[in-house]
Amino acid sequence: MKKVILAVLLTAFALFLVLPSLSWAQEDLYKAKCSGCHGADGKGTAAGKKMGAPEFSSATVQKASNADLVDYIENGGPQKKAMHAFANKGVSPADAAKLATYVKSLK
Ligand code: HEC
Repeated sequence: MKKVILAVLLTAFALFLVLPSLSWAQEDLYKAKCSGCHGADGKGTAAGKKMGAPEFSSATVQKASNADLVDYIENGGPQKKAMHAFANKGVSPADAAKLATYVKSLK
């Protein structure tokens, strides 16, 4: 019994250590690859807005499915826009999925 409790406590402690660093990783990735156009807060920089970048708090983005957002990030969406296409720029599908969650949290 004691072993079980110890195992549960150790798992909880390990998650406590790992989870914040996961969210840091996606925040860092976002800052490095996305904030130049979309801004740290997801509202869009002046340059990004000029190109037509939407605010991440908008209904378009908030209502989009995570799969659609991943496609947008990885391949540029249905219109295959080159400014995204991050699949060719070192963003893995797993990273894109984390970024999609992060994007939706910026509201
Ligand atoms: C060079 C500027 C630029 C960069 C860098 C950029 N974006 Fe965008 N993004 C845009 C523009 C412009 C749009 C407007 C939609 C369009 O024209 O396709 C957009 C649209 C979006 C949308 C909205 C899609 C929808 O549902 O309509 C999401 C989500 C998004 N970007 C996420 C990201 C993420 C995540 C990154 C980083 C991995 C990123 N963008 C990097 C310019 C950029």
